[in-house]
Amino acid sequence: METPRFQLTHSDAVTWLRSLAAGSVDLVVTDPPYESLEKHRAIGTTTRLKHSKASSNDWFSIFPNDRFPELFAEVYRVLKKDTHFYLYCDPETMFVAKPMAEAAGFKFWKPIIWDKRNIGMGYHYRARYECILFFEKGKRKLNDLGVADILEAPRVTGGYPAEKPPKISETLITQSTLPGQLVIDPFMGSGSVGFAAINKGRNFMGNDLCKEAVDITRSRLLETHAEEVGRGDKPASNDKGAPQLGLTL
Ligand SMILES: C[S@@+](CC[C@H](N)C(=O)[O-])C[C@H]1O[C@@H](n2cnc3c(N)ncnc32)[C@H](O)[C@@H]1O
Repeated sequence: METPRFQLTHSDAVTWLRSLAAGSVDLVVTDPPYESLEKHRAIGTTTRLKHSKASSNDWFSIFPNDRFPELFAEVYRVLKKDTHFYLYCDPETMFVAKPMAEAAGFKFWKPIIWDKRNIGMGYHYRARYECILFFEKGKRKLNDLGVADILEAPRVTGGYPAEKPPKISETLITQSTLPGQLVIDPFMGSGSVGFAAINKGRNFMGNDLCKEAVDITRSRLLETHAEEVGRGDKPASNDKGAPQLGLTL
């Protein structure tokens, strides 16, 4: 198996996606800081950065729901035909995001449930799950038709705010790509999707608005066997706006 490669960028998600060529990506797995996180944060049910050099309020900025249409249009554009898109979100955001992603051209299959195994905070039944919306561009079969739509993994505690366990993303990546293909995450945070992609022998391109997230992800991925390419904090682009991983597009 070839050494996986990764490239990290520090930019706004939509600006970054616009710099990538149409039909150049095999899978998008992402976890935007959607508006309803503010509600969880207000009632203290979500972790905060203990101390962030990059953020004066110890939190990352929210991506407003009214930017979803431009985000989904770009995600749709950069994906190859016959590919998948997974969006981590809570049950409230699911109702907002689903019709907007459909309007961008995606087929919605179902929410996959991330079962965190233990109850968390909350006043209206204690929270134990999160959703992962499963979308398709064109038609692509899952690699293993025997996998259930409830995936179990404990929460990540004491890490980046809203950090996801790589084990969940590993299942999504294994189901929807082949080794050597390109997985991207425009809101990568601590790079859990990148870590999962590299563990599974895929290439990864990640982006975050927060410089600290890029630094955290870089340290994490450099501890794997993967190789970093095109290091730079500017949006990746070349004459054709193509990804910079040296992959055949
Ligand atoms: C929910 S966190 C992602 C957590 C990640 N899945 C993990 O496991 O660590 C969302 C990330 O989006 C970033 N972000 C906020 N607004 C953004 C924007 N407009 N473009 C790109 N990234 C943004 C935040 O800095 C934060 O790191």
